[in-house]
Amino acid sequence: MAISVAVTGMYTLTPTFRHPTRLFSPAPFTTKFRPRASSTTFVETQTNPTDSIVVEKSASRSSNSLACPVCYDSLTLSSDSQLSVDTIPGSTLQCSTCQKTYVGNRTHLDLTTTSGAKSYGEPMPASTELFRVPLISFLYERGWRQTFSIWGGFPGPEKEFELMKGFLKPVLGGNIIDASCASGLFSRLFAKSGLFSLVVALDYSENMLQQCYEFIQREENFPKENFILVRADISRLPFVSSSVDAVHAGAALHCWPSPSAAVAEISRVLRPGGVFVATTYILDGPFTVIPFLSTLRQNIRQVSGSYISLSERELEDLCRGCGLVGFKCIRNGLFVMISATKPN
Ligand SMILES: C[S@@+](CC[C@H](N)C(=O)[O-])C[C@H]1O[C@@H](n2cnc3c(N)ncnc32)[C@H](O)[C@@H]1O
Repeated sequence: MAISVAVTGMYTLTPTFRHPTRLFSPAPFTTKFRPRASSTTFVETQTNPTDSIVVEKSASRSSNSLACPVCYDSLTLSSDSQLSVDTIPGSTLQCSTCQKTYVGNRTHLDLTTTSGAKSYGEPMPASTELFRVPLISFLYERGWRQTFSIWGGFPGPEKEFELMKGFLKPVLGGNIIDASCASGLFSRLFAKSGLFSLVVALDYSENMLQQCYEFIQREENFPKENFILVRADISRLPFVSSSVDAVHAGAALHCWPSPSAAVAEISRVLRPGGVFVATTYILDGPFTVIPFLSTLRQNIRQVSGSYISLSERELEDLCRGCGLVGFKCIRNGLFVMISATKPN
């Protein structure tokens, strides 16, 4: 099935389709493009990613974009080999400025500021710590993620991938960070699509990264040479400024301790013309216009520490405040996919 949508001015288009593969029965999915009054956008998605897209692979590789999370200077790999899933175990990277070294373990490269710390540990808010629990990491792709379609209007990974490809068209062939990838359901789709020169599966949870590693090991002909697993905090991204073509963050913005610190970091690492695409939950309507409800929402946010109820206007403001332009979104119930670009 091909969905092709052209939007001009205030025009709102609502194609309806059903998702083919799900564990649970989804509600019919409606896509609404709600562009700003002055915008003109064209989004085209196809079931087979390589059908209509000619990809020119760029020279972007891991070794020239990975940076020390302490001083943001580039990291030097001690060996001549190219970093990949297979070469990460035992590989050593060193910061040319602070001289700190980072050593790859069996599954991933730990590029958090506390990497290598012997006695210091730092608990994160519950929305981050929850996903570090081994059982949650195990269950994530075995039922947990599927519930987002039931109560949140998420169309499911394959359809989300199709939708985001429309936004990612200008940066196909470049490198992509799948930020807060969990067990890598989208990272693996990105890698297998062949649409990117390098896929960085990034998450704060060691157990999620381990799950991702195990899924990859079970797959035949997985393109491991263009794939690395990195542990990092979204508010301290281990990449050189302006070195990344695309950042995807699926169902994660509401889990981040500070969405503004995270989006500012994403904006820092994106190169001019680079694209940010994310999905999250949205809550507006009466919650934005009735003063009592909007105060209630603010209080819930403070108590829970979760940003699960941002409005479209807040999401656009967040992107703009972090230096990203051309905000666009696709909505379905509580589900929203947003995209914004680093200005050229
Ligand atoms: C609901 S999962 C989303 C996973 C996946 N992207 C998807 O679309 O299903 C949220 C992820 O955000 C990650 N996360 C939470 N706080 C983080 C932080 N401070 N830095 C990086 N990742 C974080 C969690 O570990 C978890 O894997």
